[in-house]
Amino acid sequence: MIKISPSILSADFARLADEIRLIEDFADYVHVDVMDGHFVPNITIGPPVVEAVRRVTRLPLDVHLMIEEPERFVESFARAGSDIITVHAEATRHLNRVVESIKELGRKAGVSINPATPVNVLEDIMGDVDFILIMSVNPGWGGQSFIPGSLKKISAVRRMIEESGRPVELEVDGGIKVNNIKEPFDAGAGVFVSGSGVFGTKDYGATIIEMKNRCLPDREPR
Ligand code: DX5
Ligand code: ZN
Repeated sequence: MIKISPSILSADFARLADEIRLIEDFADYVHVDVMDGHFVPNITIGPPVVEAVRRVTRLPLDVHLMIEEPERFVESFARAGSDIITVHAEATRHLNRVVESIKELGRKAGVSINPATPVNVLEDIMGDVDFILIMSVNPGWGGQSFIPGSLKKISAVRRMIEESGRPVELEVDGGIKVNNIKEPFDAGAGVFVSGSGVFGTKDYGATIIEMKNRCLPDREPR
């Protein structure tokens, strides 16, 4: 199943409820990018915004924490209404502990890796996670270009997931648009984050439908 998780980082924050209403019937998750100005050189939003978004959508909230020592904040983000909380392997000394605490809070736990982080850091956490998020840009901003080297990482992680026999969702984040979604899909990703690729288009719903269509096997590339 192909799932689309539009990133509200590229939405109009002054009209967030209206923007989310436009994806409500088409998207599978709402992706929320949390940046702290330390782990990444940019600052975005925190738990109060997650709480506000929670009130205007029935879609699961896919909260991507690009913050140092995420263990300090997972409880706040869980209380704010996150359904999936993803932390970066590079951001914590105790990855297993933070993943376990997310699950104890009753939320799905994800682990993400940056473009230069090798996939083998995921081996010993695979048995504990619900999501793996492969960054296909260096985190920090929306609107960057997809890094082609991410494709071989997606294939390698897909193999690791198959070997684990666990129902881990494989998500890819950064530079995904209608015209390039098929490549990470063919490499084995199942959940696609897209910020500017959705919110930078005229008709968000039509874009999400087209993204899913582009992954269908019988579809001729345009
Ligand atoms: C990057 C964020 C992404 C970003 C994606 O730091 O984690 O989720 O919003 O934006 P696009 O799809 O525009 O690359
Ligand atoms: Zn993200």
